[in-house]
Amino acid sequence: MKVNNFEELKKQLLNFSVDCREKYIPAVRPQTADILCDIVVKKQPHKILEIGTAGGCSGALMLFANTDAFLTTIDINKDMCKMAEQTFAKYGLAGRVKIENADALEYLKNCKESFDFVFVDGPKGQYIKYWDYLKKLISKGGTIFCDDVLYFGMVLDDSKVIHKKITIVRNLREFINITKNDAEFESQLLDIEDGILILEKKL
Ligand SMILES: C[S@@+](CC[C@H](N)C(=O)[O-])C[C@H]1O[C@@H](n2cnc3c(N)ncnc32)[C@H](O)[C@@H]1O
Repeated sequence: MKVNNFEELKKQLLNFSVDCREKYIPAVRPQTADILCDIVVKKQPHKILEIGTAGGCSGALMLFANTDAFLTTIDINKDMCKMAEQTFAKYGLAGRVKIENADALEYLKNCKESFDFVFVDGPKGQYIKYWDYLKKLISKGGTIFCDDVLYFGMVLDDSKVIHKKITIVRNLREFINITKNDAEFESQLLDIEDGILILEKKL
């Protein structure tokens, strides 16, 4: 597929994300995608890590937002990895991506690389477990962009909490608090769509 215009590609990928969600395949929501792309365009990170590949929608968006970036993307689900492989191939991005079919926590524990940008979009109850590893692998001035941190409104509003989700909600609250109080990071919580937390490692 040969298309050069970023806005046109973004439109195609946002349509793809709608198709994915209609088939119950998770994919980044439109306003979150806009903010994600804006930050990648502004900061032009070279090495990007993504936790939660799914169909490759957000990964492809980030690669188009910085055409010099290389993406490492992790997903525990083999079928998702295969679908993402097809997405990246369709958009001519295969040479700029490494897809890791792995559990994200295990990957992070063994990771020796550093990254300029991390998109955290995996299992929500695990974000708190990722934190010590993410803190180490993010470069100075780098950004950690976390999606779904408000978890269907449950994190900010007790009356919305579904009992069987209480552990995820408690873990997300702890994650938001710990990151807010970390002196090495600037944190910004946005009540947009499912909630975005942007963490910037100070220089
Ligand atoms: C919200 S989706 C990612 C959506 C994708 N970032 C996008 O916008 O196109 C979350 C993904 O995390 C994956 N996942 C769940 N648990 C995981 C784990 N322990 N390690 C790695 N990936 C995991 C799921 O298979 C799913 O594909």
